[in-house]
Amino acid sequence: MIIWKEPYFYLETKHTSYIMRILSNGMLHHVYYGAKIPKEDMGWYQLFQGKGFSPAVTVNGLVSSADLIPQEYPSFGRGDYRCPAFAVETADGRRLNELTYDHHEILEEKPALPGLPSLDVNMEESNSLAVTLKDAACGYEVVLHYTVLEEEDVIARHTEIRNRGKDAVYVRRAASLSLDIERDNLEFLSLSGAWGRERYPNRRPLSPGTTSIESRRGSSSHQLNPFAALASPDATETAGEVYGFSLIYSADFQILTEVSQYGCTRLQAGLNPETFSWKMEAGETFVTPEALMTYSGHGFQEMSHHFHDVCRRHLGRSAARDMVHPIIINSWEAMYFDLSEEKLKQFLADCEGLDIDTFVVDDGWFGRRTDDQSSLGDWFVDEERFPGGLHGVAECCRNAGMKFGIWFEPEMISRDSRLYKAHPDWCIRGQEEPVECRHQLVLDMSRKEVVDGIYEQMAAFIREYDITYIKWDFNRNLTDNGSFFLPPDRQREHTHRYMLGVYSLMHRLTETFPQVFFEGCSGGGGRFDFGILYYMPQIWTSDDSDAAERLRIQYGTSYAYPPASMVAHVSACPNHQTGRITPFATRGEVAQMCNYGYELAVGQLASEEKTMIREQVRKHRRLDEMIQRGIFYRLCSPFTGNLCAWQMVSEDQKRSYVMAAFLMAEPNPGGQYLRLQGLRKDGQYKVEPLGITAGGETLMRAGIPVIAPQRDYTAFAFELEWLSE
Ligand code: GLA
Repeated sequence: MIIWKEPYFYLETKHTSYIMRILSNGMLHHVYYGAKIPKEDMGWYQLFQGKGFSPAVTVNGLVSSADLIPQEYPSFGRGDYRCPAFAVETADGRRLNELTYDHHEILEEKPALPGLPSLDVNMEESNSLAVTLKDAACGYEVVLHYTVLEEEDVIARHTEIRNRGKDAVYVRRAASLSLDIERDNLEFLSLSGAWGRERYPNRRPLSPGTTSIESRRGSSSHQLNPFAALASPDATETAGEVYGFSLIYSADFQILTEVSQYGCTRLQAGLNPETFSWKMEAGETFVTPEALMTYSGHGFQEMSHHFHDVCRRHLGRSAARDMVHPIIINSWEAMYFDLSEEKLKQFLADCEGLDIDTFVVDDGWFGRRTDDQSSLGDWFVDEERFPGGLHGVAECCRNAGMKFGIWFEPEMISRDSRLYKAHPDWCIRGQEEPVECRHQLVLDMSRKEVVDGIYEQMAAFIREYDITYIKWDFNRNLTDNGSFFLPPDRQREHTHRYMLGVYSLMHRLTETFPQVFFEGCSGGGGRFDFGILYYMPQIWTSDDSDAAERLRIQYGTSYAYPPASMVAHVSACPNHQTGRITPFATRGEVAQMCNYGYELAVGQLASEEKTMIREQVRKHRRLDEMIQRGIFYRLCSPFTGNLCAWQMVSEDQKRSYVMAAFLMAEPNPGGQYLRLQGLRKDGQYKVEPLGITAGGETLMRAGIPVIAPQRDYTAFAFELEWLSE
């Protein structure tokens, strides 16, 4: 709900309030964000004072300083020395910005963000506010957009800058959101990592000065995810205050905090100003990516639930939201580049009877791609390698009762390719020879003809083979940033233009082929963000398929992203990334929390393992509804102990699934009780395989016994079913 009661804006979700007010000098003062409070006059709620070394401003009859006042969208050069939310320069070099309130509108429809992924919100449930601020001297307007998602306790924000003047201006910085919280004892939690170990939670106290996470890779990155939380020092999974922030964007970003001299913590999230700039001609508008913010008074878990709910209910094409996530078998770790019609057909024959939905031919099927040195950009089948194309394989796949899926890496080009010979200028490059990574270059997706060229190739292939599943990979990051096709003063627009081009390709393909289920991937989870999840319902969580490593990766990823967005496969042992050996059953249980599949040479499995696959597939179908729509609880962290446990509960709380995995076996071990969460307090639950019946309250307060195993990497799983009273 959004209420305007001059001079206050009250934005309310089910459990939170967000309040701002217009000060007498036109400044937009951020008053409060946190647990829900009544909508009252809060004129007394301020710490305004005049301060030395901070120019004075008189607001509402009081002398204060811009450096002290919490603001909605702070600017540069007029006395607030903290980090500005935006910076606009005029062609004649003016770079002082001062915004004052001009007008506002409460909108009946959430405004579209042209070319960008954003939440899809039914306005019967929520509403949107647009507050227009003006810089009178330079003639541009800044519109702050807020959409309130009441049920999910989330506010979506973005910023629009409109050049109302006669000359061009340059946007040097434009945060999607800026938030001033008047406290300085908050801790910062981010998800950091590297290839093969993505999104480990990293928590540290903030101190005076800035702390930031960012990407300048042209991708949201394996290293730092576009998500952050600010938490009270006492915050745990289930208690304490936590603010969560996330961007719906997949390229260069920055999330920055600054603790000021007067104990205010400023957080800003948006495009990375270091690699970004945008020229706006007179009359043009620039729109930032959308950012999400949420508040939880009950620890990290509730913050995660807010993000999970928003992602599942409001992100992405609504048709894709209802698509069944298929159980897949992927060729990569089974065969890598060693593909032939005969091998693929044999592989399919080996899969007979496993009841898997979709077979995905990964890298290596196109052009002359027998290793990673060639053919990216040549999205057709080479008749010498596959006489008659992949039709024989596709037919065999369908005869085996499976759908046919395929791997693409649409944004890339190999020097050794027909595409490169025809269009050597299609790759991103500067004056120097472009830098190769995995022997490949990146296509300049900021150019429409490049996007069109790749679209045509992909569309032809999808039609020819009646493809229903595409794994969309992105196996290197950008270098040589810039483009000969942009003038000098637009070079810094390149990375954002690249991303807009990629989004436009994703948009066209998903619109034209609504039957195709897309999976995002970037060397595993190198581009795991809400931007990609808008177009693709799931993302390959990591190239690290080792079950012990996946405990950490999936646990960490769940801080911002729901299990329904993650993909996990059972792979072979010794594991190809770590050399570790884990029991087949453990690999299955760890993968069960995500969208599920296999990635191994089925022909080399023992018959008991094949029997286990059939059981695991049946189990996954049983759990699928809970994975897609249930509530996810982190019970024990693999980052703090030897036991990792999580739980899923169905929406109606009648079913639950619990997974508890021990890492290393210990000598003379004891055991422990695992306290469950989210169950009904009435009636009883049957708990299998314990063969017991117990009340939800008992299971939550007393817990279920788990005896430590005498084997490394052992997982236990429990399924609960509610029995009426
Ligand atoms: C990336 C993906 C893998 C596989 C390879 C193919 O690394 O994450 O799953 O598709 O590319 O080259």
